[in-house]
Amino acid sequence: MKAPTPSKKTREVLLNYLKEGPGTWISGQFLGERLVMTRSAVWKQVGALKEEGYVIESSSRKGYRLCEVPDLLLIREIRDGLATHALGQTEARYYRQTDSTNLRAKALATQGAPEGTLVVAEEQTQGRGRRDRSWFSPPLQGIYASLILRPSIPPNEAPRMTLLSSVAAAEALLALTSLDVKIKWPNDILVNSMKIAGILTEISTGMDTVDYMIVGLGLNVNIPADCFPREIRHQATSILAETGAPFPRVVLLRRYLEYYESYYDIFKIKGFDPVMNRWKSLTNMMGRRIMVQMVGRQHVGEVFDFDQDGFLILRDDRGESIRIFSGDVTLL
Ligand code: BTN
Repeated sequence: MKAPTPSKKTREVLLNYLKEGPGTWISGQFLGERLVMTRSAVWKQVGALKEEGYVIESSSRKGYRLCEVPDLLLIREIRDGLATHALGQTEARYYRQTDSTNLRAKALATQGAPEGTLVVAEEQTQGRGRRDRSWFSPPLQGIYASLILRPSIPPNEAPRMTLLSSVAAAEALLALTSLDVKIKWPNDILVNSMKIAGILTEISTGMDTVDYMIVGLGLNVNIPADCFPREIRHQATSILAETGAPFPRVVLLRRYLEYYESYYDIFKIKGFDPVMNRWKSLTNMMGRRIMVQMVGRQHVGEVFDFDQDGFLILRDDRGESIRIFSGDVTLL
């Protein structure tokens, strides 16, 4: 990432002072002395923070006080208390609006962006889902976040990372809400049989290893139930729709990154089995009758198991086992 311009760095320090005592007044003189700048320069920096969305009260007598931190996915807010080493720390980009965070991440990855690079947006104009679907991405109500990963694995093991991603998203939701979260193979996150989050993994391979992976998370946080487009209203939900209360998106994204990194470390150190075991404990598909749509064909049958590579084992109506690598599942 580019070195921050002096004024940007000053702004961070200024914000930290304001955050130290939220709601308490800090004089312009104190801030000016600490930041080695004039009081009018302090005032200018406070103005810039206000423009970013921070609610800061100013008084010529008392100084400044921070009243509200905006629920924006600002990188500094994500990083504030983020307990990861790489994810979200190495490099990060923030967009008020972009076409698709996966597309932005891909562009960065081809320029050599390191593992852990995070791209977030408040809104996507071309949010993409699996199988060329679009992903509903209204402003300020969802999490649209893509990670660049460079795992040392052969391309055929890439689907494991997708399953790992859904475990991380489910864990974050389980840790922070009381929702009954389930995973539908391969990576849909459901609440009350409705989709609350999805993951789009895109991969670029070298000769026999993964060059980079883009893992894009779309999570419906504060989207009112009746604001989903009609076509998906019966199958999509959000935290707000389920609980009746808005949820701070930054808190959720932070927790997702933390779970992601810890499962990724487990995968690197102990292999995929512990991750797959957790994935299996989070799915509600075992024994269910399903239809799997694949390119050019479909299968109907009962879910027999998921193997340790993350393949779905379907027992069809003739009693034959079919090992499925990828597809679109409908629970029947
Ligand atoms: C799915 O179809 O279930 C996957 C949806 C993935 C959506 C996310 S939002 C952030 C990232 N950018 C995109 O364009 N798509 C993914």
